[in-house]
Amino acid sequence: MEATRDGPCPDAAADATSLYGLPPGTAVDAAGHLCSGGCDLVALAARYGTPLYVFNEDVLRANCRAYVAAFADYAPGALVAYAAKACLTRAIAAIVAAEGLHLDVVSGGELHLALSAGFPPERVVFHGNNKGADEIELALDAGVGRVVVDNFDELDRLAAAAAARRARVRVLLRVAPGIEAHTHAYIETGSHDSKFGFDLESGQALEAARRCATLSALQLVGLHAHIGSQLLDTESLPPLAARMLDLAAAVRAETGAAVQELNLGGGAGIRYADGQTLSPASVARAITEAVVAGCAARGLSPPRLAVEPGRSIVGEAGIALYTVGSRKRVPGLTPYVAVDGGMGDNIRPALYGAEYAVVAAGRMRDPCVERVHVVGRYCESGDFLARSVPLPPLEPGDLLAFYSAGAYQYPMASNYNGVPRPCLLLVSGGRAEVMVERETYADLCARDRLPERLRAGIAADGAASRLRA
Ligand code: LLP
Repeated sequence: MEATRDGPCPDAAADATSLYGLPPGTAVDAAGHLCSGGCDLVALAARYGTPLYVFNEDVLRANCRAYVAAFADYAPGALVAYAAKACLTRAIAAIVAAEGLHLDVVSGGELHLALSAGFPPERVVFHGNNKGADEIELALDAGVGRVVVDNFDELDRLAAAAAARRARVRVLLRVAPGIEAHTHAYIETGSHDSKFGFDLESGQALEAARRCATLSALQLVGLHAHIGSQLLDTESLPPLAARMLDLAAAVRAETGAAVQELNLGGGAGIRYADGQTLSPASVARAITEAVVAGCAARGLSPPRLAVEPGRSIVGEAGIALYTVGSRKRVPGLTPYVAVDGGMGDNIRPALYGAEYAVVAAGRMRDPCVERVHVVGRYCESGDFLARSVPLPPLEPGDLLAFYSAGAYQYPMASNYNGVPRPCLLLVSGGRAEVMVERETYADLCARDRLPERLRAGIAADGAASRLRA
């Protein structure tokens, strides 16, 4: 085995499946190829090129159903909204709609995409900490079911826009509950010092509810809080529920109106490299127990519960595929293996230090005898996809698969370094369908405008440099 700075592999004989198990919906075929939804991923990579994102439709649907089932026993019938920011394509919107879920959108763009897939507007929950006037108009035109109001400026803006068209909008108030979640600081959203929501501690949330009660264009139906993402325990949920129910009791006392809905956001963690996860069932149990007991203690009738899972619906359904291009070996250091994607399609390792399970998709039974750094093709030293991961010895042309790649990768992708964004496939029952085409160089130029006067300059300069040559 290769000597590396990070020491030997945990078990030199281990192959990919013994290291990480297999993600839901996948299998290894007789040739040692990783398959998802009955499709050979090596064959899909050869056909569609890489980087390639493959989403398993059955896993996506199973995750939707797991949430609905987990809350099924809660008496008033919970509302499960898929958080579109995790990954939205029109096919995903159609699947989520067919599974009966609602949809949390955070922009006019997400709303437009969802509506153009036929997503029922009354099942849309419209979020955002700085919704533009045009986005508010779009939401009102569409007749979205709920708007989650984030701040006082928006409250006034929304009330004016609704009043102007004699509409009454159903709103929830986004609350910053002052609860710290155990996760990366960048994806923690419920603390006192946060850009999101009406502050609870200083009384702003209650003040917002009072203000709503005076605005006939707004119908206050509920309260909302989201404390963070990739949560791996339920510890923060009972105190969150308690604070929100205290607020609900105060709102009822001050305005006379009952809070009908309590939306506690998303955040359930999924399996990445460390294998930890938080199931929909444990989220549902923690929330319902706390809310049922908290309502009884405060003499409140139980509100309709709502949750907004994103990552835990789509994350483990997705696998990212890359082709190994070049390698770099320096004696005494961990070797580098460069692939044809990187921070342009997955910014998470660079931004959050995210760690992934990564396997050689065409050699699933080969022992993982060497630790390597998997780096991208972008011009940044921080363009790491995985640090010091055990893999079989790799050759250019080998295919690498990153598990749990369905959430917050494609939606955060960029064209940095002029690299087109990847292709997204949907697989099920041995069939693969394109959800999003790979971008082309023509796409990169599609909205780029070269003013006529500069065109002439290039032509003249081109002629001059030809003369000089
Ligand atoms: N509801 C609200 C109001 C949210 O802000 C979010 C996520 C969700 C629901 C869905 O949370 P989930 O179930 O997916 O954890 N880009 C980061 C994650 C940012 C999460 C933003 N808000 C990442 O790659 O980890």
